[in-house]
Amino acid sequence: MEPHNKDKKRIGILKELDTFKERDFSFSSGHILGSMCTQLHPIAKEAYLKFLGTNLGDPEMFPGTKEIESKLIKFISDLLHAPKTSVGQIVSGGTEGNITAMWIAKQLTGKKEIILADSAHFSFKKIASIMDMKLTKVPLTSDYNMDVSKIKDKINNNTAAILGIAGSTELGTIDPIPELSDICYDENLFLHVDAAFGGYVIPFLRELNYQVPDFDFKLKGVSTISLDAHKMGYSAIPLGALIIQDEKWLDEISVESPCISSKRQAGIFGTRSGGPVAAAYAVARYLGKDGYKRLVENCMNITKHTEEKIIDIGLHFITKPTMNVLGVKLKKLPEVVNKLSEYGWKVNKIDHLSCIRIVIMPQITKKIIDEFIPVLRKTCEEVGEL
Ligand SMILES: Cc1ncc(COP(=O)(O)O)c(C=O)c1O
Repeated sequence: MEPHNKDKKRIGILKELDTFKERDFSFSSGHILGSMCTQLHPIAKEAYLKFLGTNLGDPEMFPGTKEIESKLIKFISDLLHAPKTSVGQIVSGGTEGNITAMWIAKQLTGKKEIILADSAHFSFKKIASIMDMKLTKVPLTSDYNMDVSKIKDKINNNTAAILGIAGSTELGTIDPIPELSDICYDENLFLHVDAAFGGYVIPFLRELNYQVPDFDFKLKGVSTISLDAHKMGYSAIPLGALIIQDEKWLDEISVESPCISSKRQAGIFGTRSGGPVAAAYAVARYLGKDGYKRLVENCMNITKHTEEKIIDIGLHFITKPTMNVLGVKLKKLPEVVNKLSEYGWKVNKIDHLSCIRIVIMPQITKKIIDEFIPVLRKTCEEVGEL
């Protein structure tokens, strides 16, 4: 039987979409080695599709989806030892988490300066522009962490917040958050911890006996923490959370919302799908804390394996990996990155550190690394890196 006209049209459109998709690299191939995003856990996809058409911007219309959101926030809050007074705000990712945190800090303090290290994510440049805030830089130590000894000189009457990074974008390093917390507690300053990458990693590293500092609400000076489920939470884009120490602070970022069923709406976004929320919740339910711990353990074992193999090639690291992020120093950076891409491998290029970033996400297996290493060696030989 001939397909109906409408079917023909649908099939034609889907075929056209496939031609676009074919040009993309895929997480499932294992050849994306530089991204902090991940192939989703299978249950994330099913949950996402079920809730794709829901709108959490109008939660009273979708009380079931809203309850999933509350349960996800509870899971994340427990992970971060958030106090009873806390509240959580679902965001689209690390950028929105940082913007929202700085919005709260600016509202609470009426001030406009953010003290942060050079390793801060570039979303802070957007924050400076959108909210007319000033970025006051603190130098890094030789380990690429914020040099806490230099902070006191930077604090002044205009300081709105200090930023601590728990898993930096470029190298996965962790700032000395306990020291930052002490300073902020003593000086009554707002401390935001950007744990976009590390939020789903550090709690389990500690349980696995890795030497990493405290970074969460166990520290009394921490005001807000952001983390992303679409990174090491093994879930779908876009999903992050901002956990806020005191629920009253939510008033600072809420407005009256006359044309929807709830009286006030907090945060930046209005309409937003329940799909990614359901996906992140489903993964959290499926894996539980034990499942995430095993995932982190596996990523760290493969990171160690990758580190050893890269040393065998004769290459060096910018700094010893703290978590599942490796920064490999290269003299012929663009040449290596372009050649690897020609060979079908995607790593991230960090010009100012003259290194490539490799991130061992959950879909990266030892077998994938063992396929990649000979290609990296061949590439380095061909471009004269070795
Ligand atoms: C530490 C950190 N913060 C914020 C972000 C921004 O996250 P997103 O791209 O999800 O907005 C990233 C992204 O890699 C990050 O590594």
